[in-house]
Amino acid sequence: MKPLALGILGSGKGSNCRAILESIRSGALPAEARVVISDVLDAPILEIAREFSVPNAYLPPGQFRTRLEPAVEVELAQMLHDAGVELIVLAGFMRVLKQPMLQAFPRQIINIHPSLLPKFPGLEAWRQALAAGEKITGCTVHFVDDKIDHGEIIAQREVPVLPDDTAETLHARIQVAEHELYPAAIAQFCRG
Ligand code: GAR
Repeated sequence: MKPLALGILGSGKGSNCRAILESIRSGALPAEARVVISDVLDAPILEIAREFSVPNAYLPPGQFRTRLEPAVEVELAQMLHDAGVELIVLAGFMRVLKQPMLQAFPRQIINIHPSLLPKFPGLEAWRQALAAGEKITGCTVHFVDDKIDHGEIIAQREVPVLPDDTAETLHARIQVAEHELYPAAIAQFCRG
């Protein structure tokens, strides 16, 4: 079976990217990471790409805070296209994608979010779940559309909220679940 060509986008520490790259390396995930791209110059996710010898790039995002400048987004789509990417995996990518990317890659962009969507879209979803007094939260893999943390759900995993949880302990527990769920969800695409 031909490995599925992935493009991974992230803005931060890259633990989901690491889980995906480890899953590929172990042979559990029949995929190939073609490129890792970040909108943050010194994001650890780029260091992880180098550790795994995956081509990587910093893409200067332009003047906006929550999205890419349109010309930059066109450039991003071109980079992913040139790398032969078949599935785009958002792994802590903190910018909303717009039409240039959504049109170039219809139903080929997925995201992971640290809540049971549709509950708690947006920033620090684990903190939102804690503040709301939830007993169970979790993580969601979904197709990306033009709204924040929104789109058809592909897979979810529940995670308990424990009585003495802090934001940090809860996020750490959710991330353990993310690191299993994301490679497993990508494997579904490898099987077509
Ligand atoms: C993850 O918890 C992911 O679910 C979240 O950012 C974190 C990135 O961690 N994404 C969102 O909140 C998207 N709205 P990582 O850089 O260690 O993979």
